[in-house]
Amino acid sequence: MKLILDTANLDDIRYFNTYYPIVGVTTNPTILSREGGDIVAHLHEIRKIIGDEKELHIQVTETEYEAIVKEAKMIVKAFGKKSFVKIPATDIGLRATKTLSDEGIGVTVTAVLSAGQALLAANAGAAYVAPYVSRLENICENGVETVAEIQQIFDAAGCDTEILAASFKTAREVLEVALTGAGAATVAADVMKKLLSHTTTDTSIAGFAADWEKAFGKRTLGSML
Ligand code: G3P
Repeated sequence: MKLILDTANLDDIRYFNTYYPIVGVTTNPTILSREGGDIVAHLHEIRKIIGDEKELHIQVTETEYEAIVKEAKMIVKAFGKKSFVKIPATDIGLRATKTLSDEGIGVTVTAVLSAGQALLAANAGAAYVAPYVSRLENICENGVETVAEIQQIFDAAGCDTEILAASFKTAREVLEVALTGAGAATVAADVMKKLLSHTTTDTSIAGFAADWEKAFGKRTLGSML
């Protein structure tokens, strides 16, 4: 399962893009509102950090069909061919998704809260659908099961649309979504870190270093070769 970073924070993007095998960055209006300032320059900076080959998902802010289509094209023109336009799962959103997908623009249908919405988004030609796992859990639904159901529907239909699972509060949710066969997940910085960090890994590394130093002092293996 591909992992994408769900943030617009430049320090986090620099860090995770350097050290973690992420395939891109996702944003939404709330995430961008946290950064403020010249948001267009900010998005260009994100593109500069991740390079031209990684995915950058940017949500439309228009709400009418013609305006969404126009804004989506402007987004792709400004931020490159590996930009995906996020469009919410509504009737107007589906229409815009169909138009843009037919023209070869990658659309991520977002704010997906049901398998029905995901089915319609796939039929409209979406590249990705983004089910919101934690927001489903928050309304007493099963977020992971919804993702599994969507994946089953996509597999049965043999469609090309991928799941980009979103809205995670725990690393465990990410793993459970990975087990469904979902193609991708977008994860905030704090949860991404929890996928890697482990106290026993830290104590194991400290133990290796201490044992080596006891036997060979400060020399490294490379210096002895
Ligand atoms: O990018 C959209 C999604 O990840 C939202 O997450 O944490 O606001 O529910 P959250």
